[in-house]
Amino acid sequence: MKHFLSVNQFSVDEILSILETASNYKKGYFPIQKQIFAANLFYEPSTRTTMSFNVAQRKLGFDVLDFSVDTSSVQKGESLYDTVKTFEAIGANILIVRHQDDHWYEELHSKLSIPLINAGAGKAEHPTQCMLDLLTIYEEFETFKGINVAICGDIKHSRVAKSNADALKRLGANVYFSAVPGFEDETLPYPYLSMNDAVQTCDVVMLLRIQHERHMYATTNECYLTHYGLTDSREKLMKKHAIIMHPAPVNRNIEIASNLVESKKSRIFKQMTNGVYVRMAIMTQLLKEWGIINEVIIKECE
Ligand code: CP
Repeated sequence: MKHFLSVNQFSVDEILSILETASNYKKGYFPIQKQIFAANLFYEPSTRTTMSFNVAQRKLGFDVLDFSVDTSSVQKGESLYDTVKTFEAIGANILIVRHQDDHWYEELHSKLSIPLINAGAGKAEHPTQCMLDLLTIYEEFETFKGINVAICGDIKHSRVAKSNADALKRLGANVYFSAVPGFEDETLPYPYLSMNDAVQTCDVVMLLRIQHERHMYATTNECYLTHYGLTDSREKLMKKHAIIMHPAPVNRNIEIASNLVESKKSRIFKQMTNGVYVRMAIMTQLLKEWGIINEVIIKECE
């Protein structure tokens, strides 16, 4: 694996290997004793992904290069290609990019001599989010086989739905969608359930934010929550062992009742914690493949 661009590029064994490495990083690690420069180039807003990459990089002992679209030469019209090639030329060892274009990495990756990670591509893919979601589900059920997962909300505009559905299906889970009329994605081969059926039958209820920045549909908050969201009364219909997930940021009281974000069934903050460890695993795996680092010593915390 030279770059981390799409979950489709990885076999089931490769996915499970990354999850295992991430689990090991939770036990401890020994910072890399070599200077590694990492650059996080976010052309779209982000809190969790950019900051968890930052924490992951600092835990591993990397030097993190500051970059902001607003204060960079992107403002003078510099392209993504020229920006990325600049970072490569000045000595970055690994690049993390989020961009609004669904296909931004497709030609770019073959022109680079350092690893590239997709931290979000428009409506198309969010593979590192997928890996942290997989780790969270695996920690809960210790398997993916036969687990019923409902992905609910704005399916049509969600990169998380696409990455997660494909990976979960390949790992043996049963994937269902639930969406407001108009927010379905008929190009994807997954059955749709009503929200009531989804909460009653599934082991994982994964909610999605309405992606207002990607479309002009208007919704009234109360109407959306009542008809399509996770209300207190729907939460009571969930199976005893079932969990609530959400990639966040959460629109409280739109797709989920606010109090459920911190409820017993919620794994929303655990997902964020897991993001640090899967990103450590992905970055070190790539750097090893390129011969930039050797094995990372996993030293158990005392
Ligand atoms: N889940 C996620 O990608 O969050 P951010 O947009 O804050 O990075």
